[in-house]
Amino acid sequence: MEDSQKDIVILAVETSCDETAAAVVRNGREVLSNVISSQIALHTLYGGVVPEIASRSHIEKINQVIEEALLEAHMDLPDMDAVAVTYGPGLVGALLVGVAEAKAIAYGAGKPLIGVHHIEGHISANYIENKELEPPFLCLVVSGGHTHLVKVADYGSYEILGRTRDDAAGEAFDKVARAIGLGYPGGPKIEEASRAGDPRAIAFPRAKVAENAYDFSFSGVKSAVLNYINGCRMKGISIVEADIAASFQKAVTDVLIEHSMMAADESGIKKFAIAGGVASNGTLREGMRKACEERGLAFFHPSPIFCTDNAAMIGAAAYYEYLAGRRDGWDLNAVPNLKLGER
Ligand code: KG4
Ligand code: ZN
Repeated sequence: MEDSQKDIVILAVETSCDETAAAVVRNGREVLSNVISSQIALHTLYGGVVPEIASRSHIEKINQVIEEALLEAHMDLPDMDAVAVTYGPGLVGALLVGVAEAKAIAYGAGKPLIGVHHIEGHISANYIENKELEPPFLCLVVSGGHTHLVKVADYGSYEILGRTRDDAAGEAFDKVARAIGLGYPGGPKIEEASRAGDPRAIAFPRAKVAENAYDFSFSGVKSAVLNYINGCRMKGISIVEADIAASFQKAVTDVLIEHSMMAADESGIKKFAIAGGVASNGTLREGMRKACEERGLAFFHPSPIFCTDNAAMIGAAAYYEYLAGRRDGWDLNAVPNLKLGER
């Protein structure tokens, strides 16, 4: 076989927040294994991610998770072409566990090391199940820490068209869920509660940002929900959680879809993708699908398991970095506020 046709197999590691994950990915799009050890049960007690607990738990789980990923792929370290790891953005202590582990493994096995941007990973999750998807396309990245409207000009080449000015979309879901007493993580709980609710019951605000029409702001809708709940309590009116959840979910997804379609219309790019934990939300997916259909745009989204944090998406992103010849040294460090497109 010609060298250019050789399969590229990458071991990928992801520990930026509360999932300890490892995966083996062939040629960027074929997932041979995808192991995720979730810490949700540990953090539920505190109503959110506790950074110190996350770091400790990553240390306890990381070796086992990597061993499982190799085992499931029926491969061993010598079969790998590179070791990839998320090095930012994220919680510094959590990132450090993955970075130190990946460096040690790559050094020990004599393999190249590739540091990957977490958001680039989320975007690349779309390559896994959509084999035909290639840049340029637009992507809405909506997670617990990020809300970015991105133009993917080429593999590894990104232009941020809009971003949140305050809370991330997932963060707003988490905070509102806590306020209604639904617990953590908020996104799936709000979506579940919404099924029994009326999305038109309460008119929550849909904020616009004056300086950049593509930017988002979710602190207003979050405050409006809290004010609504307090108002009901003061008047002795019992709240209907399902209606609040459904109305809030509609307000957030309406804005996400509106800004996304505005960018699609103005850019003329005919492919639109979504990514990140909130991209597993059914109302967002269906709304986006419909809006794309109306405009004749091709719509792409990962399966829910590739929307929330996982290492397969890091392996997908790393493949294109590998092809572009990008390699990191043994001095690779965790960068908690790493910007997209920076290296
Ligand atoms: O991508 P992710 O796993 O982690 C980050 O990089 O932040 O996203 C987690 C976020 C959480 O805020 C969670 O509440 C939200 O994604 N999420 C959802 C849903 N599933 C997860 N939000 C809305 N609807 C869902 N079904
Ligand atoms: Zn994420």
